[in-house]
Amino acid sequence: MESGIPGLDKMIQGGFPFPSIVLVGGEPGTGKTTLALQSLFYGAERGEQGLYITAISEPTWVVQKFLGEFAFYSQKIVEMEKIVFVDIDGSMSEDSEKIMDVLKKNIEKYEPKRVVIDPITAIKNALSGTITYRKFLHDLMVYLKTQGCVTLLITEYSYSDVPRSVDAYMADALIILSYLEIENARKKYLEVLKMRGTKHLTGRRSLVISDEGLRVQPELR
Ligand SMILES: Nc1ncnc2c1ncn2[C@@H]1O[C@H](COP(=O)(O)OP(=O)(O)O)[C@@H](O)[C@H]1O
Ligand SMILES: [Mg+2]
Repeated sequence: MESGIPGLDKMIQGGFPFPSIVLVGGEPGTGKTTLALQSLFYGAERGEQGLYITAISEPTWVVQKFLGEFAFYSQKIVEMEKIVFVDIDGSMSEDSEKIMDVLKKNIEKYEPKRVVIDPITAIKNALSGTITYRKFLHDLMVYLKTQGCVTLLITEYSYSDVPRSVDAYMADALIILSYLEIENARKKYLEVLKMRGTKHLTGRRSLVISDEGLRVQPELR
């Protein structure tokens, strides 16, 4: 399934495996939310149902307001509910079954082809024990695989978290966004660390964010 992010599909032989779970990690401000929403709008323009589930970090109205600045944003798509925005903040608790129920209910209701959970870190924090989270994540991934969709799980972490991360092992694909300070300028990067069943370009690639959204420059490191 084409990601809809210019430059990225070229790096991953045309798109994401389908169905699959794609982990998109990075520190705050690296472009994770923009990437996810740009991909949802890309799909929705082509008739695919999209579902954006947010937990805690940014209420849906904040996300929609910030989105309006981008060329890929379409009010019509939101009004027609080709992308549905769901805030599950109210369902966050230590009870993993309650969280799972609300996720499943929304996926079954809308039958999306593209799902975003932004950020999954919020669920991890709510389920304080690592074992509970690990089991939750496993169950969620098994479930999502049977739903015929690509899911982008947004997670707030950096390179140093990857080797220890349960999420990274379990996902089909892993994309890390980052920024580096080079000659007093902050440059943004995208790196594909893993893409199951797909040859992909390795190493950090230049990432540009503008009013058009994200664009990867695969030829530039
Ligand atoms: N119109 C724009 N032009 C250039 N950069 C932008 C624009 N809008 C947002 N950004 C950049 O995008 C980043 C926000 O990305 P976001 O997707 O919210 O990050 P994350 O979800 O990783 O925290 C900010 O760092 C900001 O610098
Ligand atoms: Mg974000």
